[in-house]
Amino acid sequence: MDIVYQESITVEDYNLLREAVGWGALCKEQAQSGLEHSAYVIGCYDKEKIVGTARIIWDGGYISYLADVMVMPDYQGLGIGNQMVQMAIDFVKSQLKEGWKIKIVLIAAKGRETFYKKFGFNERPNEEAGAGMDLWIGG
Ligand SMILES: CC(C)(COP(=O)(O)OP(=O)(O)OC[C@H]1O[C@@H](n2cnc3c(N)ncnc32)[C@H](O)[C@@H]1OP(=O)(O)O)[C@@H](O)C(=O)NCCC(=O)NCCS
Repeated sequence: MDIVYQESITVEDYNLLREAVGWGALCKEQAQSGLEHSAYVIGCYDKEKIVGTARIIWDGGYISYLADVMVMPDYQGLGIGNQMVQMAIDFVKSQLKEGWKIKIVLIAAKGRETFYKKFGFNERPNEEAGAGMDLWIGG
């Protein structure tokens, strides 16, 4: 195994991962647009083979979103997910300026909450905060 983390991923590789984890491929134009407008993209490769991805969408201010954390099923449990989440958090940290604070938001897949909690993410709802919510448009 020759694992390398780079700051890019092709649309084809991104869709391979989506299919492998059961999220389904996006149409090429939409996937490309999402990747291009992300502030930070990780593509994890074993030689030429895509094995993982994660990305940060950030408004340049105080809100960022950790999206599309995916590891190929036959590469799961090797620490790749942990590494990519840490890299994503480190990227956001690196963008802080004097007096700034940035919130990283994510929506955990069902049962994946514990994967994120050890990085400091708060599970919602809790005593102070309501549940996260979402709304799909189209499709
Ligand atoms: C969730 C996912 C990204 C984890 O990636 P991974 O490379 O297998 O994770 P790691 O090997 O780095 O393990 C990270 C930690 O998460 C734990 N973990 C792994 N899979 C888990 C799961 N399904 N549920 C809860 N914890 C899990 C591991 O035990 C490990 O714990 P530790 O750090 O305390 O030892 C991967 O299972 C995946 O791609 N799943 C399908 C897509 C998905 O659900 N993504 C998350 C969307 S919110």
